[in-house]
Amino acid sequence: MTDHLQQQRDDYYATVIDSVGDGVIVVASSGLITLCNPAAEEITGFSKKQAQGAEFRKLFALETTLLEMVDKTIRTGITISDQENVVVRSTGRITPVAVTCYPLVEGSGENIGAILTLKDITYIRELEAAVRQADRLSTLGTLAAGLAHEVKNPLGGIKGAAQLLEREFEPESEMLEYTRVMIRETERIDHIIRELLELASPRRLKLVPINLHQILGDILLLQRQAVAGRQIAFIQHFDPSIPDIMADEELLTRLFLNLICNAIDAMGVDGRLTVSSRVLSDYRMAQNERRSRMVAIEISDDGPGIPPEDLENIWTPFFSTKSGGTGLGLTICHKIVSEHRGMIKVESDPGHGTKFTVLLPLVQ
Ligand SMILES: Nc1ncnc2c1ncn2[C@@H]1O[C@H](COP(=O)(O)OP(=O)(O)OP(=O)(O)O)[C@@H](O)[C@H]1O
Ligand SMILES: [Mg+2]
Repeated sequence: MTDHLQQQRDDYYATVIDSVGDGVIVVASSGLITLCNPAAEEITGFSKKQAQGAEFRKLFALETTLLEMVDKTIRTGITISDQENVVVRSTGRITPVAVTCYPLVEGSGENIGAILTLKDITYIRELEAAVRQADRLSTLGTLAAGLAHEVKNPLGGIKGAAQLLEREFEPESEMLEYTRVMIRETERIDHIIRELLELASPRRLKLVPINLHQILGDILLLQRQAVAGRQIAFIQHFDPSIPDIMADEELLTRLFLNLICNAIDAMGVDGRLTVSSRVLSDYRMAQNERRSRMVAIEISDDGPGIPPEDLENIWTPFFSTKSGGTGLGLTICHKIVSEHRGMIKVESDPGHGTKFTVLLPLVQ
């Protein structure tokens, strides 16, 4: 074959490897990396220039599972795969990956290295978490709604009786105070029950064009007044290019109000509340779903954060660490976001703060 033809063939193969959507890293039996495609650069954070020619063992010193897989494949010539347990740490990011390590075999049958394929499974992990969460909420929701129904009638009876009793006492009787407490507390239970029943029932969204920044701005304005005695800084970073989205105004107001109130509750006498918005142009909600444009609204505070053992529970009805909290706020938020075909995520750094991210599709 002429040099020219050889070159053309090499270019062709290089283009093929570069176009593969999964990360591909080839390691020679000497332990040196001979090839690294763009998807692998993306996952590992190493550029092709850094990777090619470098020692695999040195570059991936932290990833013991990968080292063992490559070692074993080079020694034994067998294919090894791990779809579950491997993560790749690049600067500032941990990417869960499904890995397969194939032997690189020459025409003569000699094993001259290993080919590592890395598939980024971040979105699969996120979906799994979302499904787990939805499962748990639906079981609990059904249970809670059943209970709410049962409690509603006797509660009405108690309230009615307390109201009758109230009429029996003289205006100056101190018993009146007790009947008022009874009535007030039954009303509180009634409120919780109504929220619960609403949570469990499907509803139709009243979709209208919504200016998200207007809703957020109004809530922040009101809350700023509510915490006037505290040193809380309100910071807004809004992306002005975000268009109106079709959504239910009342529900979105409730959603953001809940999240902003939680952030304010979490901070003490001073703190920073940041609300920002941006467009994600390439977000994929499910493995095979078309990529779609989403708006991301982030609400972050520098409060005490949420302990890791509580993180999974915060969406559960009645989970609250506050003395007067019902623990329904975030359950309601979760429902509102799902009804708008969006996603809600939380990241928390105990001691430093918490960030809730709401993703909503730009087009409903
Ligand atoms: N920004 C935050 N920082 C720290 N903890 C938080 C934050 N947001 C929520 N939490 C935790 O999650 C729990 C549940 O929140 P949720 O809004 O569901 O209920 P709540 O605020 O306690 O009561 P309510 O029903 O009145 O909203 C809170 O009690 C708190 O422990
Ligand atoms: Mg709340």
